[in-house]
Amino acid sequence: MNGFSRGKLITLEGGEGAGKSTLLAGLQKHLLAQGVDLVQTREPGGTPLGEAVRAIVLDPAHRGMSAESELLLMFASRAQLVRECIEPALAAGRWVLCDRFTDASYAYQGGGRGVRAERIALLEQWATHGLTPDLTLLLDLPVATGRARAAGRGEADRIEVEGDNFFERVRAAYRARAAAEPARFRIIDATRTPDEVLAAAIDATHHLFGAKA
Ligand SMILES: Nc1ncnc2c1ncn2[C@@H]1O[C@H](COP(=O)(O)OP(=O)(O)OP(=O)(O)O)[C@@H](O)[C@H]1O
Ligand SMILES: [Mg+2]
Repeated sequence: MNGFSRGKLITLEGGEGAGKSTLLAGLQKHLLAQGVDLVQTREPGGTPLGEAVRAIVLDPAHRGMSAESELLLMFASRAQLVRECIEPALAAGRWVLCDRFTDASYAYQGGGRGVRAERIALLEQWATHGLTPDLTLLLDLPVATGRARAAGRGEADRIEVEGDNFFERVRAAYRARAAAEPARFRIIDATRTPDEVLAAAIDATHHLFGAKA
């Protein structure tokens, strides 16, 4: 918004087909109309290096990837995104809207793959300097509903081919994180219409305006 206060980091989280990308487009439009100087990005990816990592991580050819390798690749992408994009933007007073962030590692590599949360927390401190979003919107919906939505999109990537049990653990881990940090998270019922989801998201952003950085 201006050069004198730090910007805000808003992250969108949720399972496959929850509607993150759909919401991101609507929320971006809304925030721009409010005069917010906004940067939009995604994980894994968001930088040339991160997008190269994304291609590796999602390539079904790498089906033998270990949980440890997956976690480190996610944090390799994230470390680059923080340094190259997010930190400079926030320092310049810009807001950042990010499609997935560190909570996704706790949900997917933690809940989904069974990596201990303490290990993820160590990487978080090192790779992101403990950068915590100002607001995290969790789009929550039954696994089957999300899968049905995502199914229309052609070939499944390496993570989408996981079974329902994996995605149930991801969902449970996301909900547990939201319950543990209610001030940062807003859980949105993603079974509602895109307009209703957007309205709930906009409502959740109100407290970010005018708040001291
Ligand atoms: N609230 C909604 N109700 C019904 N359908 C929706 C809703 N939001 C998005 N969709 C549809 O569901 C599909 C998945 O949406 P979207 O790509 O936004 O999800 P996503 O969370 O970004 O998925 P991914 O995790 O795979 O990136 C799209 O076809 C989209 O049009
Ligand atoms: Mg998406």
